[in-house]
Amino acid sequence: MISAIVLKKINDLFEAEYKTNVNVDFLNVEDTLIEVEYSSLNYKDALAITAPNKIVKTFPFIPGIDLAGKVIESNNKNFSKGDRVVSTGYGLGEKYFGGFSSRAYVNSAYICKLPTNLSTKEAMSIGTAGLTALLCIQSLLKENIKPNDGPIAITGASGGVGSSSISILSNLGYDVVAITSRKEPNQNYLKQLGASKVYSLNEISNNQKPLNKQLWSAVIDCVGGEILSNLLTEIKYAGCAIICGLAQSYKLNTTVMPFILRGIKLIGIDSVYQNLQSKQNCWDNAKKLFKENYFQDNMKVIPLSEVLSYSEDLINKKVTGRLVISL
Ligand SMILES: NC(=O)c1ccc[n+]([C@@H]2O[C@H](COP(=O)([O-])OP(=O)(O)OC[C@H]3O[C@@H](n4cnc5c(N)ncnc54)[C@H](OP(=O)(O)O)[C@@H]3O)[C@@H](O)[C@H]2O)c1
Repeated sequence: MISAIVLKKINDLFEAEYKTNVNVDFLNVEDTLIEVEYSSLNYKDALAITAPNKIVKTFPFIPGIDLAGKVIESNNKNFSKGDRVVSTGYGLGEKYFGGFSSRAYVNSAYICKLPTNLSTKEAMSIGTAGLTALLCIQSLLKENIKPNDGPIAITGASGGVGSSSISILSNLGYDVVAITSRKEPNQNYLKQLGASKVYSLNEISNNQKPLNKQLWSAVIDCVGGEILSNLLTEIKYAGCAIICGLAQSYKLNTTVMPFILRGIKLIGIDSVYQNLQSKQNCWDNAKKLFKENYFQDNMKVIPLSEVLSYSEDLINKKVTGRLVISL
């Protein structure tokens, strides 16, 4: 028997349940069976639990877009029993049963090996959110944005992608400004992660002008909507906005002005279907890129039995940093 979070559809109602007596035959077989040690709770997972039909199409279903653990058996000769592995995205926890399960079958085409310097728990404190932050920062480095080009603004700063981005960028010597809807409770936390300044949303210009004073060498945006629209008007000449999220809105109201008069770029990041080698490179380099205190200060470990209530908290913006789930 395994433990899992199971989503069910009964008539037209959805139900999420923590179960400790799921038969292993319930799992859909793929070529590699993993003993899941840790998973993590992302925005998408919280949505899958609180509003399943927004993420999941077939029921019953096991959510969880991230997992890390040890290989039990694999038909792929590149994997041996005991290998420490991590899998994120590619439909895990959306199309295929995911990581909120003490055992999981995963297609080996979607599995990365963990480097020796990264534990399965640390991997899940990074998870999809940290991986996305790593990919955002890879793009920023490709754009040749340097620490002395000026501050970088990060929106959704207290969330998983935002907090990871602050940690990595400040570790690399950038001046990071955190933009948050929760300045009062989270100011100290965000500064501890590495932000030099913390602004609340209403401190960001909202004067509707197509161009404003040039403030940011780059923006990493997790929220979309009005905040991103405003920040685009403040990016310095030849800077960029790297966008990955829609926590505020999927809409973006902008003009061509910052693009044609300041030569700025808008760069989209997807970590879900990113190719496996690119993900493997991120895992291989992750430990040295995050600030040392990240792994102690930015993760809260919760048992699988508490995932349902934490999902509500995450949707209601009551969570800061990363929630790691112990299986
Ligand atoms: N493109 C990809 O591959 C990819 C991968 C991972 C995540 N994402 C997306 O990126 C976003 C962030 O993911 P995450 O894992 O960091 O989520 P998270 O941990 O839930 O953090 C989201 C943060 O956004 C801010 N926020 C939430 N609602 C808001 C609102 N209505 N207005 C303004 N700010 C709001 C909050 O930060 P403050 O409290 O600091 O304001 C919150 O902590 C999500 O939209 C997620 O779906 C995309």
